[in-house]
Amino acid sequence: MKLLQANAGAKRMTEVFDDFVEMSALAFRNAVDLRGRDEREEQYLRTAGRYDREELDRFGHALALVVKAMGAEPCDVLGRLYMELALGNDRLGQFFTPYDVARLMAGMHIETLADSVRTCGFARLYEPTCGAAAFIVAVSQEMQSTGLNPQTQLHVTAEDIAPQAVHMAYVHLSLLHIPAVVHRRNTLTLETFDSWPTPAHVLGGWGWKLRWTDAVRELQTLLGATPPQCTAQARS
Ligand SMILES: C[S@@+](CC[C@H](N)C(=O)[O-])C[C@H]1O[C@@H](n2cnc3c(N)ncnc32)[C@H](O)[C@@H]1O
Repeated sequence: MKLLQANAGAKRMTEVFDDFVEMSALAFRNAVDLRGRDEREEQYLRTAGRYDREELDRFGHALALVVKAMGAEPCDVLGRLYMELALGNDRLGQFFTPYDVARLMAGMHIETLADSVRTCGFARLYEPTCGAAAFIVAVSQEMQSTGLNPQTQLHVTAEDIAPQAVHMAYVHLSLLHIPAVVHRRNTLTLETFDSWPTPAHVLGGWGWKLRWTDAVRELQTLLGATPPQCTAQARS
């Protein structure tokens, strides 16, 4: 909080936070995703250009603290920061679930997810209004505590209309190496603005894997069989 507040100066805190999570997400994505890399690099430099050297170093330091915190004990580090800085947008209902509650909810889903892993090889999770991805982080923790591996046995589709939520979720899921695509999307009108595949999604070839799984399911349906249920949906 102190590092971001020190960068506020003449800027509003909300702008500083949004720039911080946007630059962090862009840096992670550009490390592995070559498609559209140059445009994203330009976007990064445009945002970074609004800060001086000392301020950029503070962002780097703040991101290092996020990495350290997520490594020590994964939780909703950025969502909590966002709430503590009172940046939640009331109009969008941005009240993020406290992490303990997210963990409790994840515990209620774990049997369904474990069933999917047993029958489909991996579980798919859909979070239509993901915020900073507290629930998904909690699911990954819950999977680990029951001997499942969220880095190989889970694929997440997460959506949120707010760019900063998409960026926070992307940073969390990238750091935990969870295969996921985070869409900036209006889940009511179904309009999609952009899509952010995590490094684990790109490096694990999940695009092909999911297309193949969907094709097999369609074939099973065509042949009159009922494909197994492999997707769980989060309820915000
Ligand atoms: C109550 S918060 C829940 C966030 C997260 N699921 C959690 O439990 O921490 C609701 C989220 O929905 C998002 N949102 C609001 N309207 C939306 C819409 N039409 N489409 C997609 N997301 C929306 C907000 O940006 C916010 O992040």
